[in-house]
Amino acid sequence: MINVDKSPKPFFVLAPMYDVTDTVFRQIISDIAPPDLSMSEFVNVDGLASVGRDKLLPKIVFNSSETPIIYQFWGKKPENYKKIIEQVFDYSLINSANVLAGQKKLGKAGREKIIGIDINMGCPDKAVVKNGCCSALIKDHALADDIIEAARQGIAGRGTLSVKTRIGFSEFNQDWIRFLLSKKLNMLSIHLRTVKEMSKVPAHFELLPEIIKLRDEISPETLLVANGDIKSRQQAIELHKRYKIDGAMIGTGVFSNPFAFSENNSWDSFTPLNKIELYEKHVRLFKSTWKKNERPIVTLNKFCKIYINGFDGAKELREILMQAKSADDLEGKLNMLSKEYTTR
Ligand SMILES: Cc1cc2nc3c(=O)[nH]c(=O)nc-3n(C[C@H](O)[C@H](O)[C@H](O)COP(=O)(O)O)c2cc1C
Repeated sequence: MINVDKSPKPFFVLAPMYDVTDTVFRQIISDIAPPDLSMSEFVNVDGLASVGRDKLLPKIVFNSSETPIIYQFWGKKPENYKKIIEQVFDYSLINSANVLAGQKKLGKAGREKIIGIDINMGCPDKAVVKNGCCSALIKDHALADDIIEAARQGIAGRGTLSVKTRIGFSEFNQDWIRFLLSKKLNMLSIHLRTVKEMSKVPAHFELLPEIIKLRDEISPETLLVANGDIKSRQQAIELHKRYKIDGAMIGTGVFSNPFAFSENNSWDSFTPLNKIELYEKHVRLFKSTWKKNERPIVTLNKFCKIYINGFDGAKELREILMQAKSADDLEGKLNMLSKEYTTR
């Protein structure tokens, strides 16, 4: 469990991002500029509790070289939250995922890094909302309550109980935040936009004083993590000084700067060759992790824009690299490029 007194303030969290924050990307970020904590991309508990389980297990794979992790889940059935979360804390879920992918089971160091679970109550995707999941729970306190209690039973005191949500559905909804705080969560992460706003407007930092006041009144022990438009460690420290948030969560900030969590912005001083070599490293790790093609090449191509960016000719290089048909093909193209840039 994250200890309120011991955790450094602010602590830094890598946001959950579907098809992005898998074990490979988390290992890259953990290596170059680690946050204190990462969240997995969201994984459906109803799927994990079904015959389709194996298809979802790649999202669960964890390597002990990563920073500590909170697994994020979504779904409809409280009983499946309880069942799957029990498997997180007896480690059988992660061990079966690792074994299926040909990776090691968790050793002591790895087990100590499995620190909690988060329930997604913020995703605005139309299909999930229509199904009554994620941000639809903002309008269904009864189901949200059942899910939180099922998750609490699954954790059984062995880790952090966390919820990630938005400030409301169509407008800031104090009742929703009050409700969540009344559940005495260990951690509450708030993406400072409404569901309707998606990511189209600036994050509402101006609401932080009101939210922090509610937290102090209702559940002072709940760690409050702000999310939305935070791009750097420095900005997070300033938000902490101004609003007294406990933690700061950075998502897309790592796309424009993979060193977002570091104290000095090394990305600015990264040469084109450094960037190509970092992408090469990512591709090699992708290949050695997903030997059975568990993840399609499109998930890998997404990273092209992150690494191959910010230097003359980057756009043209991306056009070539994005044509790669397989991870081997991409690695070959990057090898040629790094040789070319070494001799420049
Ligand atoms: C590609 C992508 C995938 C995302 N997947 C998830 C997810 O699985 N779970 C979740 O709670 N939020 C997800 N989000 C939302 C982010 O966690 C975060 O709340 C949002 O990007 C705002 O933070 P930022 O401004 O730091 O990016 C996703 C965002 C992006 C861009």
